[in-house]
Amino acid sequence: MDAAVIGGGVIGLSVAWRAARAGMNVAVVDPDPGSGASHFAAGMIAPVGEAEFGEEAVVALNRDSAARYPSFIAELELDAGRSAGYRQTGTLHVAVDGDEQIALERQFRYRRQLGLPVERLTSRETRELEPGLAPSVRGGMLVQSDHQVDPRAMVPTLLQACSRLGVQIHRSRASLLIDGGRVTGVALESGEVLEASKVVLAAGCWSGNIPGVPQDDIPPVRPVKGQILRLRGVSELIARTIRGGSVYILPRGDGRVIIGGTVEERGFDTSVTAGAVYELLREARALVPDVAELELVEASAGLRPGSPDNMPMVGDSTTEGLIVATGHYRNGYLLAPATADAVSGVLAGAPWPEATRPWAPSRFRRTAEVGA
Ligand code: GLY
Repeated sequence: MDAAVIGGGVIGLSVAWRAARAGMNVAVVDPDPGSGASHFAAGMIAPVGEAEFGEEAVVALNRDSAARYPSFIAELELDAGRSAGYRQTGTLHVAVDGDEQIALERQFRYRRQLGLPVERLTSRETRELEPGLAPSVRGGMLVQSDHQVDPRAMVPTLLQACSRLGVQIHRSRASLLIDGGRVTGVALESGEVLEASKVVLAAGCWSGNIPGVPQDDIPPVRPVKGQILRLRGVSELIARTIRGGSVYILPRGDGRVIIGGTVEERGFDTSVTAGAVYELLREARALVPDVAELELVEASAGLRPGSPDNMPMVGDSTTEGLIVATGHYRNGYLLAPATADAVSGVLAGAPWPEATRPWAPSRFRRTAEVGA
């Protein structure tokens, strides 16, 4: 086969689907595809709202990937014959007290300095746009271009597209096989060997634990826990994603609402805590009081793959044929198109795109090498 992908989350499946679409013979190896961070994520496609102070270099790449979304989704839905749940709803950031109003103003000015498309709204304009907001809302910042995709639709759609294009899905743990400094394939738990001269390491926060990966190529990825709530109601409380304090509230447009998410450094712990559920609901209710009327359907925790600088690690390793694609942290869904396009291009023989060179894993190697 042309390539094996270790990891069947949104990144691994997107890479496999794109590579198969380009005519390659591809396999994905994962004990339970789509069950990791990709299953729990909210699915925000929010390069403008998620722009952090000091991360100017990241914003352009993130926006580039967001811009690929409409065509990525159109092609994916065509191949799969089902919806991936992409909605262009926009995002409204709000402030509910004086301190938050000052912080929101700083956020607004920072984005304006970067030339990002944001609109400042008064309290009245904010509530006219979203009547479900609390009367205490002091003002808002509208990001028309920050959208969402439904992970619970996108993963099955990717799996369906992969299956229709002949991608083999192996439900197994994987070990990397190397001979003479070159990748030769992947071994499954059953002992079966998938021969491949190219292997993509896309196992999210577990990418550091795959047997056979040479010490120098183990990506410095760590789990960053995110607790998240899923609720359901009969009518729509809000039309677009609302962000305020440390929470976001995403409406799916069919009565489902997502409230997220904590950011916790607790290793591989996925327990749901009473304190986190309480805080998420308390903060969400301060923004949109009627969330308290919704049915609480699910409280869960996922593990984001964090990197030392919060940027993904996508590029070559020191082992010929081994490509790394992990560390997408809070932006796995957002960055799936840019990652899949770059990696599938390289699998087909193209060089790394200039734009994704800042993602090269070599930046974390003690003796950094030239190139991606
Ligand atoms: N992108 C939102 C989160 O990671 O919680």
